[in-house]
Amino acid sequence: MRIEQANYSNQEDIEHISAIEDAVFFENALGEGTLRREIEYGYCAVLRDDMDVIVGFALVRPHFELHDLLRLGVMPCFQGRGYGSWLLSHVITRFPGPMMLMVRKNNARAISLYERNNFVITGTTGESWVMRRSTSEPP
Ligand SMILES: CC(C)(COP(=O)(O)OP(=O)(O)OC[C@H]1O[C@@H](n2cnc3c(N)ncnc32)[C@H](O)[C@@H]1OP(=O)(O)O)[C@@H](O)C(=O)NCCC(=O)NCCS
Repeated sequence: MRIEQANYSNQEDIEHISAIEDAVFFENALGEGTLRREIEYGYCAVLRDDMDVIVGFALVRPHFELHDLLRLGVMPCFQGRGYGSWLLSHVITRFPGPMMLMVRKNNARAISLYERNNFVITGTTGESWVMRRSTSEPP
């Protein structure tokens, strides 16, 4: 397995990412056109297996003041092996400044993953928590 940056002009990559999106976000999945735009103007880290198939991704909308982690997803059959943590560490290292994200309140697994990486709940919007990570490490 390896992590590298996705290329928005590679249609096969977009299709793999879109398939993961559908498999983990269901009715909230972003469409291929939206994904391509976000990857073109943002940053998308992909996790590839030895056959070059993408099995996980992290999509960031970088911003000078506050980066936005739009998506973190691992194909269900590859979950629970540390890949989600690896992708998250990768984007935190790549974008060390303040970062925010939104996560469904019932997604306990993702929330604990984010908390372990120093994200804290800072707000709420409907069914989601807003979480934020500042640059300074906790005491
Ligand atoms: C959240 C997600 C990205 C985590 O990816 P992952 O590859 O499973 O993550 P990891 O293997 O690094 O495990 C993360 C934590 O979940 C725990 N975990 C792993 N498999 C689990 C399972 N089957 N049930 C419950 N917890 C599990 C791990 O123990 C780990 O916690 P730990 O470090 O305390 O041991 C993945 O579950 C996913 O794609 N979920 C659907 C999409 C989603 O919810 N995205 C985040 C919101 S935007």
